[in-house]
Parts: sequence; structure tokens; C-alpha cells
Amino acid sequence: MSLPKVFVTRKIPTCGLEQIQQHAEVDVWEHPLPPNREQVLERIQGCQGLLCLLTERIDAEVMDAAPGLKVISNYAVGFNNIDIAAATERKISVGNTPDVLTEATADMAITLLLAAARQLVAGDQYVRGNQWKTWEPLGFLGQDLRGRTVGIMGLGRIGYAVAERLHKGWGCKILYVHPRVHSEAETELQAKKVEFSTLLAESDFLTLHCPLTADNQGVFDYEAFCQMKPSSVFVNTARGGLVKQADLVKALNEKKIFAAGLDVTDPEPPEENDPLLKCSNVVLAPHTGSATIESREGMANLAEANLLAGLKGERLPHLVNPQAFDDE
Ligand code: DGY
Repeated sequence: MSLPKVFVTRKIPTCGLEQIQQHAEVDVWEHPLPPNREQVLERIQGCQGLLCLLTERIDAEVMDAAPGLKVISNYAVGFNNIDIAAATERKISVGNTPDVLTEATADMAITLLLAAARQLVAGDQYVRGNQWKTWEPLGFLGQDLRGRTVGIMGLGRIGYAVAERLHKGWGCKILYVHPRVHSEAETELQAKKVEFSTLLAESDFLTLHCPLTADNQGVFDYEAFCQMKPSSVFVNTARGGLVKQADLVKALNEKKIFAAGLDVTDPEPPEENDPLLKCSNVVLAPHTGSATIESREGMANLAEANLLAGLKGERLPHLVNPQAFDDE
């Protein structure tokens, strides 16, 4: 019996490929840059399985290029790169990689929050540029974190892990925007569910942890930034599309907010001449929230488990679209 065909759109930690290679004919995209659209459309042909990254847009056209496709295993917890409705309509199971990256991503949010609040990168450049002449009473003044109010947009696993660190570690007051009341956060962290406008107005630090959907695309626009405190720090480790980037740049340059720490941008990477790259009050990271050895290996193991289950016609351990499976 011939083995099912699988396309893997980038090299991932080898632990995630070992089993797949025993059960399928695997085509791994070996280049450091992702395959372009045409290359995806070509390589997916004849495949029953796809293991892809957030760099690939997987829509109906891609799915239709492989009529036998049974499973799409996304090497990420977020899945805004995949047209879930189109997959469900075609009975293609979609899997993601939750939990294993929660702690690493929460740590990154805290790292960016403190780095932005204390102008760490600007200070680093100052030292390296030999501009540091003496200890300066008024140089690089930042924002205190202890006891401040933190706004969490999206209190899922990662949002909760961030809130817990900030409440238990720095005594911060937690406000959150989330579709439901989070009872554990309200009891354990004295967190308070608020309206979006309150989150903007009252947060000293505001950090994003919600998925990107059609409804919240660009929700952080100039108007939103103008409602924030001029001393506030904005952090995004979720998705760049939640923010109107040009509006954020304007707000940073006009000092409507104090600083930003961004692990994600829109597009990724930013264009070479993007004015964001000129802002001195922003700290940037190249979408490395989950980039610890443990997390990335965990993601590889989950992506592999999802893919193998899908190839066997079983329910994926982390299934994003249960209707594709349950309504068989
Ligand atoms: C995710 O998993 O969605 C992150 O953005 C990358 O790890």
C-alpha cells in the first residue's frame, strides 16, 4: 500500500518529523524563506496532509489544489492564516499547537513590557554608539511597574499567564477584555472584566493576547491610542493585524503613549522603509514569542500528533474545527 503524501512547508525541530516520516511520504520545504503562493499550490498537489506555518495563507484555492487533503496541521496556536470555514466545508480537520508555548509567550510579553517601559534598547544603542558620557539623573527615565494597572486584551491561556505573573510578581491590578467572565482570574488575581474603552483609559500597561479575527482587525487605531494614557506602554505578542500600524507610529511619535513592545507587526517583516523602524520608543522582536527550544519542540510534537491523527482519519488531539469531524 502506498504511503500518504505530506507537504511540510519549512524545517521544524526534527522530533516533529520522525514519526511522520515513518508513516508518510514527506516533502519538506528546505529553504529558509517560506514557499511562495505558486510553490505551495504546486507542492500540495496529491497530498493528504499539510503541515504549515503562519507564513502560509491556506485558503480554498490551496485546499482545492489537493482534493484528497484530510488534515492541515498548523505549527502555531493561532490559525488566522487558515480559512477555517473553507476547511470545514471540505471536511478537512485543522489542528493547532496550544499550551506548549504559553509560558514562553507570556515571558516574552513581560520582557517586551519591561524593555519598552525602561527604554532598554535605546539605552543599549546609546552605550554601543559611545554616546554614554556620565551617569545622568534625567537620562532614560522610564515607567515603574509595581502596583500599576495592566490591561489584558484576551484572557485565554497566554493572557492568564501574563496576568498571573504581573499580579503575583508585581502586585499589578488586572483589567481585562474577554468574551466571558473569567472566574478563576477574578478570584485568584482579583481581575476585573471591563469595556474596551475602560481598558484603554485606565491601563498603565496594555498587552494583547486575543486571536485575530475579522471583527477585531485594526481595532487598535489612532482613536484608540488617543484614549490611552500618555504614560502607557503598549505590548503586542498576538498578531500584527490587531493594530493599525501607521496609527501606532503616529501615536508613538506624538507621545500619545509612552512606548510599545512588539513581537508582531503587519506585515511581517515590516517594509524596509516602514516609519515604525525609526521610532525610538518602540522595542521590536521578530515574532519570537514561542522561540524557546522547549516550546518549539513541544509545538513540533503536537503538530506531528495532529497530522498523524488526521491521516488515520482520527480526531486530532488539538482540533480547531470540530464540525469537520463530528458531523461526518
Ligand atoms: C503562534 O503559535 O500562534 C505564534 O504566533 C507562533 O508561535
